[in-house]
Formats: sequence, structure tokens, C-alpha cells
Amino acid sequence: MEDQAEKLREIMRQKTSEAKTEPSAAEASARVAEARPAPVVKSKNGKTRIITVTSGKGGVGKTNVSVNMALAYARLGKKVVVMDADLGLANVNVMLNMIPKYNLYHVIRKQKTMKEIMVETNYGISIVAGASGFSKIANLTEEERQNFIEELETLSNADIIIIDTSAGVSSNVLDFIAAADDAVIITTPEPTAITDAYGIIKIIATEYDNLNMGLKLVVNRVKSAAEAKKVSDRMTTIAGQFLNLKVDYLGYIYDDATVSQAVLRQKPFMIIDPKCKASLCIQHIVGRMEKSELRESGGFGSMLKRLFGKA
Ligand SMILES: Nc1ncnc2c1ncn2[C@@H]1O[C@H](COP(=O)(O)OP(=O)(O)OP(=O)(O)O)[C@@H](O)[C@H]1O
Ligand SMILES: [Mg+2]
Repeated sequence: MEDQAEKLREIMRQKTSEAKTEPSAAEASARVAEARPAPVVKSKNGKTRIITVTSGKGGVGKTNVSVNMALAYARLGKKVVVMDADLGLANVNVMLNMIPKYNLYHVIRKQKTMKEIMVETNYGISIVAGASGFSKIANLTEEERQNFIEELETLSNADIIIIDTSAGVSSNVLDFIAAADDAVIITTPEPTAITDAYGIIKIIATEYDNLNMGLKLVVNRVKSAAEAKKVSDRMTTIAGQFLNLKVDYLGYIYDDATVSQAVLRQKPFMIIDPKCKASLCIQHIVGRMEKSELRESGGFGSMLKRLFGKA
């Protein structure tokens, strides 16, 4: 799997440069629903839903989306864990002004239990810091793997696990994408962000031939719903035409000054102002997620299978 991932990174490097020429082709008519409030449906069978948030380009809003989606889910009464898969940058911790002392690495090394590393926030969600110190889950020894599986299982009473990743195909991002029920891909309307988002979609398509996962697009920092729809039409059409891949348009988030103010204050914008434009968009997005039910084979057990080959 290590070799495969290295190969993928190489493909990513090649394909993203190819991808730069393709997106200009289609600006077409995919019928995409606008983000709107939706009746809330509980995930099928009450299973844990694993949502990986990723992007091609950095700085497009992954961590903001992860944390604030978690809060929107918590407002619906869900038990939510946010896992920071990119400890190097400690994104989630910084956004919540918290410094977890331990991370998944300590769990894998049996130095700590999941309970000991999980940090409750004041906002009704819990966070788990990712495992810096090992680059691939596939590199774990059999014993480490067993420890990790046993401890991960203690997260199975969560309704939702949101995994915030670093941008692009690096370290264990692909593992986490593979493990997810839903991969939420974030882009902004910037051409570079769109091209890179297309690049990561292409990698996912190349890597996972019979991908049994919902690929979902969020367009962040838009000025209007029309601008977002234009971006998503372009992306979903190209993914369909060139990759034969279905990408669902999950919604958009307005460019909103509250977001950067919230980041500076190290508090989620959903807490600073649950009625600001960005917060309302996030709540719509979560409403739409709830409407798209978890597929039968999804959930926690299959996450373990996809991560480790067996549960
Ligand atoms: N909807 C928005 N409106 C205004 N500003 C935004 C919005 N979304 C993100 N930003 C700005 O972009 C910055 C980066 O956001 P964030 O840290 O969530 O991105 P990221 O994709 O997680 O970045 P990285 O790739 O470095 O992890 C924020 O600090 C904020 O200033
Ligand atoms: Mg981030």
C-alpha cells in the first residue's frame, strides 16, 4: 500500500498538471440542486458516519468546514468527534484554542487510550489529534494495528466522525479518504483551487476503481449562489465526462468576514454567530448531508475494514 500511495502521489503530480488544461472545456448544464434547509433524517441504522474533509489546494477552508459542520451536527443532537489528521499543522486545535498533549500516535504505541487523548471541547464536540510520527497506517506492525483498531472502536458510539485532512495527496490523507463514507471536497471559486480540486478528484477516481463512497463538493468563499453553482456545474460535469465519476454538489458557503474574525478569536464561527451567512450555509450543508443517507455497507465497521483490511 505504501508503494501504491507513492505511485499515487506521482500520478497526482502528473495528473494535476494535465488537469490544468481540461476544466476549461465544460461549463455546462448539470442539474444541481441549490443548498436549502432540509428535514433531518437520522443516519440509517444509527451507524457512525465517517466524513473526510479534503481539498486539492491548501487554505480553502477545510478546517473551518470540519469544525463548524461538527457544531451544526451537535446542534441536531448528534455525538460528534473531529479528528485532526494533520497534526503537523494542528489546525483543529488552533481553531479551538486547545492544546491536546497526546495524539493517535500515543494510542498506537499503547502509551495512552483513546479516552485519554480525546479532548472534550466547551462546544459539545470532542476532538482527537491525529497521529504525527507515522506516515502510513499501512506501516503499522500487527500489534500496533490491533491496538489501534481496539481503541478506534471506542469511537464507534459517536454518530459522526469528521476527519480534517491536509491539502492534496500527502501522508495518510488517502487512507482517510478511503476509510470515509463521504469525502467532502472543498474548493473556492479561484481557478487554482478548482484545478487542484479536480486533481484530487482525479486521484480518488484513479485510486479507487469501484469507489463506494459519496464524493461531495462544497464551494467556499462565494459571493453568490449563482457563482457557486457555476463552479459546481463545471466540476461535476467534468468529473462525469472525463472521469465517469459522480460528484454531488453539497452546497456553498458565503465569503463572510465573521469567518476570519472567528479564526482570529480562536472560536468557531458557528459559536461567534450562529446566524451569520457562513453559519446558515453550514447548517444547510449538514441538512443536505443528513438527507443523503449513509449507504447500507457504510459506517464504522467498514471504515476499519477499509483502513486495515479486516475489522
Ligand atoms: N467562508 C469564508 N469566508 C471568509 N473567509 C474564509 C472563509 N473560509 C475560509 N476563510 C479564510 O481562509 C482561512 C483558511 O481557512 P482554513 O484554515 O479553514 O483552511 P484549510 O483548508 O483548513 O487550510 P490548510 O490547508 O492550511 O489546512 C481562514 O483562516 C479564513 O480567514
Ligand atoms: Mg486546515
